[in-house]
Amino acid sequence: MGNVHVLDHPLIQHKLTHIRDKNTGTKEFRELVDEVAMLMAFEITRNLPLAETKIETPVMETKAHVLAGKKIGLIPILRAGLGMVDGMLKLIPAARVGHVGLYRDPETLQPVEYYIKLPSDISERELIVIDPMLATGGSANDAIHSLKKRGAKQIRLMCLVGAPEGVELIKKEHPDVDIYLAALDDGLDEHAYITPGLGDAGDRLFGTK
Ligand code: URA
Repeated sequence: MGNVHVLDHPLIQHKLTHIRDKNTGTKEFRELVDEVAMLMAFEITRNLPLAETKIETPVMETKAHVLAGKKIGLIPILRAGLGMVDGMLKLIPAARVGHVGLYRDPETLQPVEYYIKLPSDISERELIVIDPMLATGGSANDAIHSLKKRGAKQIRLMCLVGAPEGVELIKKEHPDVDIYLAALDDGLDEHAYITPGLGDAGDRLFGTK
């Protein structure tokens, strides 16, 4: 069963408070999201496998550890997911980045992929799907289905803020996917905004309205 991990490190909580504040402007919002993404990457990569190697320090020869070269793929969901990519790449610079853009057809309610570009070897990579807001869970659910259809085997989902509704949907549809959040909020309002949330993450990141 996929687990939900709330990464409530004090630094993450502090920065998230400023991210939530409606008086935080675009520049600061973007910088803070970048910083929180980097801190979350630190926690998410805790279980990366290590390999032993031999080195010489200025004092002596010793055994030491390096990353065992696990292949990682970051998959931001357009557009708000883009705001967390650079922060993650600061810690995992060798990760490949794929992009998924989708919306739900208002008539058929079926997900429509308007853009998808993925590393060719996604079946061999540990994929981290990135979307700052896990609200109803619709986009993340559709994106994960889409990745699985294309051969993805190991997927994790990383969001800044989640609502219980979105978490439940992902747990039900994708019990194999672990979810990482900076905060689990109370719920959704009548427009499917997360409460208390932080507003529209894409608009606040890119200064649109
Ligand atoms: N998407 C957002 O950007 N914010 C929400 O609160 C919900 C979905």
